[in-house]
Amino acid sequence: MSNAKVTEKLNGLLASSAVFYQKLRNYHWNVKGDDFFELHAIFEDLYTRWAEHVDIIAERILMLGERPYSTLAELLEHASIKEDVEVKASRDMVASLVSDFGLLQKQILGIIDDAENQADRKTANVLDDLNDEIEKDAWMFNAWLAK
Ligand SMILES: [Fe+2]
Repeated sequence: MSNAKVTEKLNGLLASSAVFYQKLRNYHWNVKGDDFFELHAIFEDLYTRWAEHVDIIAERILMLGERPYSTLAELLEHASIKEDVEVKASRDMVASLVSDFGLLQKQILGIIDDAENQADRKTANVLDDLNDEIEKDAWMFNAWLAK
């Protein structure tokens, strides 16, 4: 039985995660206004964690015997998350990240389904943990938006 479908989808998640990581760095650098200190720090915390997630997803693909997308061009081509063309207002940055969390969760849940169907518990476990983390961050960002 091939696990091609899982590795292909994991590569799509890797691409989205790498773009998401860079987007967090972009926001960390470019955020302005009253929220600067708060969001500058939160975005750093997030990109630090997503650097680790990117690595774990890529190494999972390698363990499954496939090659992870590794160049910026490949990652950008296969990502479902879009970069911003212009610098957003701080509130719009947070709203954009909440929307991205939704896209990432959709990708993750699809892969968990496939992994479980193929008895790939390791992939499902890794992605369960990631999904839990996203759920918590999305809750906090939504609470912040409601202020
Ligand atoms: Fe910094």
